[in-house]
Amino acid sequence: MSATCVIGLQWGDEAKGKLVDLLAPRHDVVVRYQGGANAGHTVVSGDQVYKLHHVPSGILHRSVTNVIAPGVVMEPTTLLKELDGLQSRGINPLENLMISERAHLVMPWHIVEDRISNRQIVSGESIGSTLRGIGPCYRDKVGRTHAMRLADILAPNLKERIEEITEYKRRWLTALADDGELDSLNASAIYEMACGWGERLRPLSKDTTHFVLDQLEAGKQLLMEGAQGSLLDIDHGTYPFVTSSNASGVGISSGSGVPAKWIKKVIGVCKAYSTRVGGGPFPTELMDATGQKIRDIGREYGTTTGRPRRCGWFDAVAVRYTARLSGIDRLSLMMMDVLGHFNEIQVCVAYEIDGKRVEQFPCLADDLRRAKPIYETLKGWNQDVTGVRDIDAMPAEAKSYMKRISELIGVPIGVVSVGPDREQTMFLD
Ligand code: GDP
Ligand code: IMO
Ligand code: MG
Repeated sequence: MSATCVIGLQWGDEAKGKLVDLLAPRHDVVVRYQGGANAGHTVVSGDQVYKLHHVPSGILHRSVTNVIAPGVVMEPTTLLKELDGLQSRGINPLENLMISERAHLVMPWHIVEDRISNRQIVSGESIGSTLRGIGPCYRDKVGRTHAMRLADILAPNLKERIEEITEYKRRWLTALADDGELDSLNASAIYEMACGWGERLRPLSKDTTHFVLDQLEAGKQLLMEGAQGSLLDIDHGTYPFVTSSNASGVGISSGSGVPAKWIKKVIGVCKAYSTRVGGGPFPTELMDATGQKIRDIGREYGTTTGRPRRCGWFDAVAVRYTARLSGIDRLSLMMMDVLGHFNEIQVCVAYEIDGKRVEQFPCLADDLRRAKPIYETLKGWNQDVTGVRDIDAMPAEAKSYMKRISELIGVPIGVVSVGPDREQTMFLD
């Protein structure tokens, strides 16, 4: 009777989906509690690859209940497509999925608004949002007056509510929109669409807050699936180049409704190197052939948008910060196979900012942008480790690399991954 949590420690795409799928059979319930369709979590099962955006990564396990909690912002058309896709591949998510009626909905105006906002240059560049309407939806949620929750599309006054908000949004966005950009904001078309969503989502709509608390009190094991990564956290990340939710460990309780007293273990997922999609500072980014080599070998292209991910060496300053912030008990170190193609590997152990050595992750994006990484060079193992299944059989240089990462972060490594498949994973304890 406790909750275990899986949290990304970098800028997302650390392979949280793979780990959640692996841990799910040891749990009764998997909970997605923040973010929305900006997430793209990959689960590989045999020759099948599943890319999940809203649906929790425990969905392939029939005995596990999957919960979309109040803190998620859900875009119903994407969700329904995801459900249809799973059904066409022989998985019936309707059997083991429930969605909080408190979850906010990403509406068509949020997608338009995201596109408009993303044209804005902030601190020298665009945020590079996934254009899934996430920021505008959370903005309306906090604003309260023009937000819609799942419960609202099941309510009798739906038509009036959609007319009222569409009219407001059209007036508000007209000043900034390009010609034709507001054409999709047609109240009667949106109402028809929302009726269709309501019909299909009604059976899945539940009070998940009471459900998860009942489960915990009945002695069940919960697995909390973080989306994005701690450096994208709205309060603690590389603001303003972040997402609009608490993507670090601090967001678990608010998004899911599970009080901290139940949280017994937090696993921090990180790649053996670093990646980032979208704008924002990235001190260890490699703009050269080495960065391209990591991208090619690691197939570093966005799961949600297909954009090439920016690649660089492991940043221990950043991960030490996020491991502390998220209260990490064990590290899950992914993509160790990708680093098996280098004679030498660099790890950033500190920054130089304006001529000074800095070991604490800076608060301001502008300081981070000026940070020059101070590297420690480690010997590479330069061999294929994708077939290794026993940690003792890893090359000596790979073991030294893992030991050094663990020392720098101050957290023991609990899981090591050497490929996307379930079997390419070693549990150390
Ligand atoms: P998430 O958003 O954190 O769930 O991560 P993504 O699914 O967006 O990206 C991780 C990618 O790496 C996926 O394509 C996974 O199939 C893949 N992957 C996971 N673990 C490993 C690994 O150890 N090695 C390699 N080469 N790929 C991995
Ligand atoms: P998963 O869960 C990687 C990034 C976007 C952009 C910034 C803001 O798959 O790890 P948003 O659409 O949220 O307003 O975009 O955050 N971003 C992610 N990067 N993985 C994700 O999710 C991300 N979700 C958002 O690229 O820079
Ligand atoms: Mg992803």
